[in-house]
Amino acid sequence: MTEKNLTWYKDAVFYEVYIRAFNDGNGDGHGDLIGLAQKLDYFKDLGIDCLWLSPMYPSPLRDDGYDISNYYDIHPDYGTLDDFKFLVSEAKKRGIRIITDLVMNHTSDLHPWFQEARKSKDSPYRNWYVWSDTDQKYNETRIIFLDTEPSNWTYDDVAGQYFWHRFYRTQPDLNWDNPEVIEEFKDIARFWLSMGLDGFRADAVPYLIEREGTNCENLPETHVILKDFRAFMEEEFPGTILLGEANMWPWDLRPYFADGDEFQMCFHFPVMPRLFMAIKKGEVSDVIDIMQRTPEIPSSCQWCTFLRNHDELTLEMVTEEERQWMWQQYAPEERMRLNLGIRRRLFPLLDNDRRKVELLHAVLFALPGSPILYYGDEIGMGDNIWLFDRNGVRTPMQWSNTTHAGFSDADETYAPVIDDSEYGYCTVNVENALADRDSIWYWMEHLIALRKAHTAFSRGTYSFVETDNPAVLAILRVDDRESILALANFSDCEQAVRINLPEYKASEKIELFSSIPQGFSEDEYHRTLLGPYEYQWLLMQ
Ligand code: NOJ
Repeated sequence: MTEKNLTWYKDAVFYEVYIRAFNDGNGDGHGDLIGLAQKLDYFKDLGIDCLWLSPMYPSPLRDDGYDISNYYDIHPDYGTLDDFKFLVSEAKKRGIRIITDLVMNHTSDLHPWFQEARKSKDSPYRNWYVWSDTDQKYNETRIIFLDTEPSNWTYDDVAGQYFWHRFYRTQPDLNWDNPEVIEEFKDIARFWLSMGLDGFRADAVPYLIEREGTNCENLPETHVILKDFRAFMEEEFPGTILLGEANMWPWDLRPYFADGDEFQMCFHFPVMPRLFMAIKKGEVSDVIDIMQRTPEIPSSCQWCTFLRNHDELTLEMVTEEERQWMWQQYAPEERMRLNLGIRRRLFPLLDNDRRKVELLHAVLFALPGSPILYYGDEIGMGDNIWLFDRNGVRTPMQWSNTTHAGFSDADETYAPVIDDSEYGYCTVNVENALADRDSIWYWMEHLIALRKAHTAFSRGTYSFVETDNPAVLAILRVDDRESILALANFSDCEQAVRINLPEYKASEKIELFSSIPQGFSEDEYHRTLLGPYEYQWLLMQ
């Protein structure tokens, strides 16, 4: 394998698939692996390089599969191991990679390990979980699922002790101080990677290890474990990746890349809410500020950038004041809020305004990192805030205007299809999107193709160029082949802007989306007028 292949993730465009919602292949009302395999050409057409699949393992589904009860099988709703192998091999034929969720921090309370562990203090599995006689240990640790869990400890009658859990009480934390747990997870990884999987999105990794007197997050011992895990993957499955889910500040995220020998990728959580802040304020300083406070990462590593995913739009990485402001702006109704976030989809958040959707994507794709799209956002799906927990952003994919949006031919589906006047499946669906050359779908296809045609976006350096206008973001991406200036007007008014670009004075500027030449600059400044929410990618020759 060449060096380039080993760092494929740097050039990839990712897509998150929530399997249950995507396509029902066997007519039982739930999306499944066979249904997903039938849609692989869809991703190919859109230009997607790698799918991230939500957890597909057996689970009682108290946290939609993030509560695993068997790491070595497929949830019956989703199919069989053979279906999984089929999916992976069909994806490979099309050059599409697949990574899946690997939930390391906790299991389901119905996992046989936990059921054994609780039986007795002498159980061989007792030490696989974290127990205590009191609920006062580690009490500097915050609660994540604030709306439902009063404590990180829950008393278990059978065990006669409290067990530790960072998420729902039905998700006991594993004890990663126990070498048996470490070895078991290597076996789990071997099991899946040897089927040809391309890596894992490692769930909730900051919380693996607990230590008294700390907040039990991002501890050095956790990094030791993750590094060792990476070394094992590197050794046995070179070219596979670990994408870390650590909802942390940039300086706390930086150690997850270590010297290029821990995670290849981490989600950049803090920039996401700031993009939404910026477009509401019509002012870009928050985005620049957080990126400037983001340390450099090793050259083999890459951020993963996103606008939305299957969870609430998290507001953990903003100040209390900013959070209140975001809630007022984006979640005026109580039921739009969940924990420290907003349970809404992208299009409703952006007022179904195509200009805003394009602007945020044009910026996302120009920022350092590999972007990931959330299923349905490429056609502008809406949400259903009346559904429980985060289910409102996990409704069936809208394929057509037929029954159940063409998602399933069952009588009933796992969740209702969106059917409101604005986002209903009769108008918002893939079939309509593909029939209209001006649809957002084709725009995204174009965006993806443009980004992939210019490696400066995936591998180049980046800097923010000084402008005289606080509404305009100017990102300069440079690699050894080319220089691209991405401009974005975050305000709803026309903006004149002057950009200080002395090095590119003599370069002809060509706007990439439109292929329209913009001429040369008269002096060291590039001057332009940007319409409301207008963006440009200027190739500077
Ligand atoms: C993060 C996942 O994205 C979320 O859906 C889940 O509830 C928690 N981790 C716990 O596994």
